[in-house]
Amino acid sequence: MYAIAGATGRVGSVTAQILLNAGVDVRVLVRRKSDAEAWETQGAETRITSLEDQAVLSDALDDVAGLFVLLPFNLCADNLEAHADALIASITGAVAAQQVPHVILLSSGGADLAQGTGPITGLHRLEQALLATGTIATALRSGHFQEKVTDVIDVARSTGIYPVFAASADVPLPMVATRDIGAVAAQMLLSPPARSEAIDIIGPSYTERDVATMLGEGLGRELHVAMMPEEAWADALIDAGFRPHIAASLAELYRAGEQGLLAPRGDRSIRVETSIDVTLDRLLAPRAE
Ligand SMILES: NC(=O)c1ccc[n+]([C@@H]2O[C@H](COP(=O)([O-])OP(=O)(O)OC[C@H]3O[C@@H](n4cnc5c(N)ncnc54)[C@H](OP(=O)(O)O)[C@@H]3O)[C@@H](O)[C@H]2O)c1
Repeated sequence: MYAIAGATGRVGSVTAQILLNAGVDVRVLVRRKSDAEAWETQGAETRITSLEDQAVLSDALDDVAGLFVLLPFNLCADNLEAHADALIASITGAVAAQQVPHVILLSSGGADLAQGTGPITGLHRLEQALLATGTIATALRSGHFQEKVTDVIDVARSTGIYPVFAASADVPLPMVATRDIGAVAAQMLLSPPARSEAIDIIGPSYTERDVATMLGEGLGRELHVAMMPEEAWADALIDAGFRPHIAASLAELYRAGEQGLLAPRGDRSIRVETSIDVTLDRLLAPRAE
């Protein structure tokens, strides 16, 4: 039995689906009855729990061979650090209580660093805390998700502007399709490694200008790449609706990217192939009602 958190999310949903297709027992951890019902029709066992609820989470991890887990960011939290720490205590408490043999954490480049990376510092603390439980911890350290482009699709469509929070739009950066991460997680649950490790998941590289060009083609309009200078990041994020402490944390994350702090530094890396035009086609495809 494999337990999958974040099963309504981009990565966890793929991991759960691949495992179900492989014919193994899957227990998805979801927060709503309607989500549980949708997974049950596909043959999954379900438990309704939030990751903060250590007692229910612990019950849900009874007798599992492996767990896929993530540290969801809550960009409405009054205190990002405290929110992350409550999740970390609950997740690791439940993993330790059930002596879960193998945990795959959806982590991030930069999670080896204790500070200076905005919300990724929570992933650093979760990686460390999982190691302390005695489980075999596999930290899948992803670079930028290709799906991050979703954040700018509406503004690009309506204004023709593609905002870039970086000093240059011409630096190639690896970008990973979340489906590829989900597939790696499923594979690693089925073939657990002998020891804990941090694995960088590296996708194809693109510049922000490449992404703007491809997104413009998909939207049927040319996009103007608008560079945001670093001193304007926090205010632009506040204008976009984020509270000041969240904007400050995200600005620190962008700064970390500029300083190379999010680069791959794990024990090894896995290269994945899905190209961003495939992801863009999927994101821009009309949805069936
Ligand atoms: N964006 C990037 O470029 C990037 C790069 C590296 C790593 N990451 C990591 O990727 C994570 C996001 O992964 P994703 O894109 O697969 O997720 P996602 O699509 O954003 O979905 C989040 C998932 O987490 C669940 N969730 C949220 N809060 C929860 C809680 N308190 N208890 C239980 N479940 C909860 C959601 O369930 P509901 O449906 O119930 O809300 C949903 O299934 C981030 O947290 C970050 O750590 C992101």
